[in-house]
Amino acid sequence: MLSTERLVIRPFQESDHKDLYEYLSLEETYQYEPGKPISLEEARKIASERAKGTDFWAVTLKDGSQKLIGHLSFIQTEPKSFLTWEIGFIFNPAFQNNGFATEASRALIAHAFAEMDSHRVVGFCATENVASWRVLEKCGMKREGLLRKNAFFQRDKNGRPYWLDSYEYAILAEDLI
Ligand SMILES: CC(C)(COP(=O)(O)OP(=O)(O)OC[C@H]1O[C@@H](n2cnc3c(N)ncnc32)[C@H](O)[C@@H]1OP(=O)(O)O)[C@@H](O)C(=O)NCCC(=O)NCCS
Repeated sequence: MLSTERLVIRPFQESDHKDLYEYLSLEETYQYEPGKPISLEEARKIASERAKGTDFWAVTLKDGSQKLIGHLSFIQTEPKSFLTWEIGFIFNPAFQNNGFATEASRALIAHAFAEMDSHRVVGFCATENVASWRVLEKCGMKREGLLRKNAFFQRDKNGRPYWLDSYEYAILAEDLI
């Protein structure tokens, strides 16, 4: 469990499903993310699966509400000996633009370097997704690459993929020293 000025970042619990549903049920969440709006029952399954693993972190308010306002994914890439993790984030629109994704991501990256023997953390986002790459930059990550039309999350009315360019960002443990 990690604590910052305004947040507690902790493992998922089954009871997180209602707060998770609040933002994973919205069309706007999937503009630059795979998937589509989910039902409350699906949110229940997702919260329960995440509670069993270590790839997802619940981001909750430190105030009395303890509300889950978003989550981070933090997944070790292959080969494991490269000691590299990929970070991702999705936040409830009602709580966006308050610096919460940045505050949570910074804490998790610092924890990975201090406690998980992590050597490198990477993040990918669509070049159009300014909010996402702003968060990565505010965490001290460097833009290392441009991937041309490597992903799509929407199709046009004829079913053709709407291809997006992506940026790759990364930070090394030694960058924080
Ligand atoms: C990306 C996301 C997690 C950011 O969460 P957040 O809590 O709002 O992030 P922060 O408040 O820490 O920082 C957001 C930054 O983006 C900026 N921003 C937000 N929307 C923007 C826009 N449309 N154009 C330009 N800048 C924008 C904010 O001003 C802020 O930057 P600043 O501090 O320099 O002003 C959130 O927008 C989200 O959940 N989006 C939907 C899911 C998604 O796309 N996830 C990432 C996939 S790679």
